[in-house]
Formats: sequence, C-alpha cells, structure tokens
Amino acid sequence: MASAQPQCSIVGQGAIGLLAASRLQLAGWAVDLWLRQPNPLRIDFHPLQGPGQSLNFAACQRPAELLFIPVKAYAALPCLQQLQPLLQPGTQIVISHNGMPDLATLQRHVTVNQGLWFLSTSQAAMRTATGVRHTGAGSSVLAALNDTALSSQPKVEPWLNTALGPLTITADIQPALWRKLAINAAINPLTAIHGINNGALAAAEFQAQLEAIVSEVCVVAAAEGMHLPLAETLQQVQQVIAATAANYSSMLQDVRVGRRTELAAITGYIVNTAARHGLAVPANQALWQALASTA
Ligand code: PAF
Repeated sequence: MASAQPQCSIVGQGAIGLLAASRLQLAGWAVDLWLRQPNPLRIDFHPLQGPGQSLNFAACQRPAELLFIPVKAYAALPCLQQLQPLLQPGTQIVISHNGMPDLATLQRHVTVNQGLWFLSTSQAAMRTATGVRHTGAGSSVLAALNDTALSSQPKVEPWLNTALGPLTITADIQPALWRKLAINAAINPLTAIHGINNGALAAAEFQAQLEAIVSEVCVVAAAEGMHLPLAETLQQVQQVIAATAANYSSMLQDVRVGRRTELAAITGYIVNTAARHGLAVPANQALWQALASTA
C-alpha cells in the first residue's frame, strides 16, 4: 500500500533513530534508513505498552527530503559533511544528539536551500539484541536553525511529532539544550562509572553528588546568560531517573561495548565553559577525569 505521507530517511541504527523509525512506520510513513550496508534491516520493536512487533526497513541509496540525523554528538558534523553531496535541494535536515551542539558550525555546513533543525528529546529507548525498546515516555523540542527551515515547518512538524512527539516548536532551543545537558551531566557519567541503571541513582548515597553536579551546571549556565533554576532542574533530573529507571544510559552502553562516549559534549562542555568563565566545577571535573579515556 502506498504511503500517504512523504518519504523520510533516518541515519544509522541507534536507539533514538530506530524508535523514531518504528513509530513512523507504524503510523503509515514511508521510512528508510541510511546504513553502512545496502541490505534491509529487520528489527523487533517493543513499544512502551502492548506487544512487540517485527518491522522491516529498506536501506536507502540516497537520503529523502526529510532527513533525521540522530547520531552521537561527535558524529553529527562528519555525517552531515559525508551526506551533503547526496542531498537534494529543499532537504529538511534534523540533527539530534546528547550534549551541547555547535549550532554555528552546523549552520555553516548546509546550503541556503536546505532547512536545518535541531531536536532535543527526552524520549528514552534502548537497543536490544534484535531491535529497540521504548523505555521511557518523554517529549521533544524542535527549533529551526535557518530561514529555509522556518518556511518548511508544516512539512516537518507532523513528521517529528509522529516520530518523537509530543513535540514543541520553539524559536530558542537554548533553554531546552541546557535542561537536557543538566540531565545528561547528572545521569550519564555516574551510571557509566558505577555500571548501574538510571533508577539506581535514586538511592540516598548519590543525592549529594547529583546536587553538586547539577548546581555547577546551573552556575555555568548563568555565566552564559541562561537562567536554570536549581530546584526545578534537580526535580527534572529526578523525574528522568524515575521515568527511565530500568534504562542503562547511553554512556554506560557506550562504555560497555568500548565505543567512544559523548562525555566531551556533556561534561567536557561544562568543564571547558566553566574554565572560560574562571569558575570551579569540582564535581564535574572529577567525572571528566574518571571517564576522560572514553571521550
Ligand atoms: O543518554 C541517555 O541515556 C538518555 O539521554 C537519558 C535521558 C539519560 C536516559 O537514559
């Protein structure tokens, strides 16, 4: 049956990408994947509720005009550069990753007729041996990063709302980026160091350290002109810990398989920004030192 929706492509087979691909396909969208190899990918998708199902995705030869790039922070720019010669005019490019993106650099790597977007999501998903499991209900914030994107919102909004919604479109992505940075700075390094699931961070023994990490993020954010209230941010961290209790963070999963982590874009960003402002961030500095070899 032909899909009523436009074709879209998703890069790679990471947890968030496969979650988005599965939700889109089940809603009737035509989705293919940009993979390292040309064979179709068959996965088992386990939604938050209800039975799992097997889904099949074609590997695309050339990305469609709606292109989602949910790769690791360090891979976003190389991936955009690699795909650029294959992209059609008018392509809407949506980048998403943990950690603070370098939006100015990404903006320099698209042409005037390509739309550029950044999406920050609190949806939680985990790769399984045979596919992906949706492990925590979240939401997503999306911002247009150039004029071509702004004029293409009607095309992009329903697509990403289906993929990773509920979706909020914002003119300023910075507050969402800082909130997500605080969440990842608190959860990811600690779970990676201790080899524990997110829920284990609710134990009393971690509370002082969580508060120290988050309060340092709030101080660095303030130095950058971003008001991040400590009590509210800590509460959001606790909410994510509870909502993703059974999840193993992406950083722990990276460490377990010997893959490079996103530490540089998360804790590294906080430590470097603090240094620029002459601020001491001992709690984040300790995490950076403990995991530096993974960055
Ligand atoms: O990186 C991750 O694992 C996720 O962003 C989060 C929200 C910490 C849930 O595991």
